[in-house]
Amino acid sequence: MAHLEIKQLSKRFGGFTALADIDLSVAQGEFVVLLGPSGCGKTTLLRAIAGLERQDSGQIWHAGSDISHAPPAQRDYGIVFQSYALFPNLSVGDNVAYGLKSRRNGPTPGAAGAHQRVAEMLELVGLPGIDEKYPTQLSGGQQQRVALARALATSPRLLLLDEPLSALDAIERVRLRSEIRQLQSKLGITTLMVTHDQEEALSMADRIVVMKSGRVQQIGTPQDVYAAPFNDFVADFIGRGNLLDATMQDDVTFQFGAVNLRCASALPGTALHRFYVRPEDICLHSITDQSENSFTVKVSKSEFMGSSYLVTLEADMGDNKPLVAQFSSNYLQGRPIHPGALLRVSIPAEQLRPMPRSA
Ligand SMILES: Nc1ncnc2c1ncn2[C@@H]1O[C@H](COP(=O)(O)OP(=O)(O)O)[C@@H](O)[C@H]1O
Ligand SMILES: [Mg+2]
Repeated sequence: MAHLEIKQLSKRFGGFTALADIDLSVAQGEFVVLLGPSGCGKTTLLRAIAGLERQDSGQIWHAGSDISHAPPAQRDYGIVFQSYALFPNLSVGDNVAYGLKSRRNGPTPGAAGAHQRVAEMLELVGLPGIDEKYPTQLSGGQQQRVALARALATSPRLLLLDEPLSALDAIERVRLRSEIRQLQSKLGITTLMVTHDQEEALSMADRIVVMKSGRVQQIGTPQDVYAAPFNDFVADFIGRGNLLDATMQDDVTFQFGAVNLRCASALPGTALHRFYVRPEDICLHSITDQSENSFTVKVSKSEFMGSSYLVTLEADMGDNKPLVAQFSSNYLQGRPIHPGALLRVSIPAEQLRPMPRSA
């Protein structure tokens, strides 16, 4: 059995369904990220696992035990919230030691033991010797490191993180991302983290659980979820992908308005198909190029992103929305991409990904 097993978990608030039939297995030592827009039920799921919210139906198993109805104090986890939920009136050391007083796995350590454990934990999160300070004297990132130290002080077998980085500035957020991931790998602690930030999920997770309206949409590795979204919602949410409708001409050729494109794999014979194209998979050619799957487009907008440009293209593709392409800044050198410029682009056959048929 998996280390953490969620079975058919459902939760309603009055008439509102916050979680619907959630099934999820998390392996020992795995880092799983719950990703979805605000209000999709991520926090509710985390709180149910923590015992802070009671599900209406379904089960939660942790380390081989059914904890579905266990009170929070009898569950074996550490938790970190979005807002730095440190006690402002307690020193950093007392904050970290707080968790030890309600220790589940064994006896409460004596004062000397607690002191040593606090020192170890602060060392672990890269803040040695700050136990005398108070939370208000620390930056947001330092406070979250202390919150992490507190969550880990009892050596729990499960770490729950609810948007731990979202209150931090961009630089601190990226730094703490890799610190958390390194710490998690080092300790081998099974971790479930909530975020609404797809980049954070892609960069940190072993597996991502994409949620919408209380339901799981897709579970997979970051690479899987990015390259092969199950449905339009996942495709839209995970990146700036293009969803394109086409009519079939033969089993490998499809018509997108006035543009005909070949697809790498033959598709079953129904008239309408939907494809998914990543912005970075659209290739740029010289304007006279006639290679396969190439066509001429007009630039309607371009945004400089640093290492790349995000370029909105108008193509003669029928009812399909404008195409969004991402071109590396190095590669673009000197090519005109101002609004109105004409470009020759292609969508390589193997990058034209068929979407699974909607249920
Ligand atoms: N205690 C509650 N009472 C009523 N509705 C709630 C309660 N907690 C959460 N909700 C609702 O359930 C939905 C999911 O909330 P939440 O799990 O916090 O979403 P997320 O963390 O994904 O943003 C939201 O629409 C929220 O308003
Ligand atoms: Mg939330």
